Amino acid sequence: MNQESRAAFFDGTAEHYDEDTFHAQVADALVAPLPPEPGLVLDVATGTGFAAYAALRLKPARVLAVDLSPAMLARASAKAASLDPTGVITWQVGPAVPMPSPDGTADVVLCASSLHFLGAVAFADWLRVLRPGGRLAFSVVSGARFKPSGPFADFVPADLTFPLDEAGAAALAKDFVDVSAQTFTVDDGERVRSVFVVHATAP
Ligand SMILES: C[S@@+](CC[C@H](N)C(=O)[O-])C[C@H]1O[C@@H](n2cnc3c(N)ncnc32)[C@H](O)[C@@H]1O
Repeated sequence: MNQESRAAFFDGTAEHYDEDTFHAQVADALVAPLPPEPGLVLDVATGTGFAAYAALRLKPARVLAVDLSPAMLARASAKAASLDPTGVITWQVGPAVPMPSPDGTADVVLCASSLHFLGAVAFADWLRVLRPGGRLAFSVVSGARFKPSGPFADFVPADLTFPLDEAGAAALAKDFVDVSAQTFTVDDGERVRSVFVVHATAP
């Protein structure tokens, strides 16, 4: 699938994306354990910016948030007047793999609710952009729950094995050190949703 078709699909989801609070909660879980005052934070496939805005709690020097979908990014940047009045976050339309960032410059890489659209190739790029000791935080759907089918399956790269448990989720970050994975579950009374949240450090 080409980038234009992919962007058009996500453009179509932008209007109502923020009505679902699950993604914001995942983003919060990614950011919560990270150390304060990083230099550069990268938000990979930022969507409407949940992880980028959550990262502001760390008081970073700079956040670069990238997404393929102009409509998702328009929603993200529209919130900046109230959520990022000093302009710490830079919003950039384009592919998030590779991230438009030089090697070894990032202190934190965040990827919330998006790895299943990027594929395993993202990990090599995160190792490239992170400085030694830099932190990675990503979420990943469970293979027990995530069964892409029909046209949606075209959006999901084939190179990623979706984990069935926390050990499998941690194993995705096999080239990192100090890897931990937890099951993150939200039950809003109507349905139970669950992903794995993984934290790791660049060697
Ligand atoms: C489910 S949303 C997640 C957005 C956000 N990270 C969050 O936590 O809510 C998936 C996002 O991935 C973006 N995306 C998919 N493939 C991409 C790619 N190759 N490069 C950049 N963004 C991509 C889509 O445009 C969409 O905004």
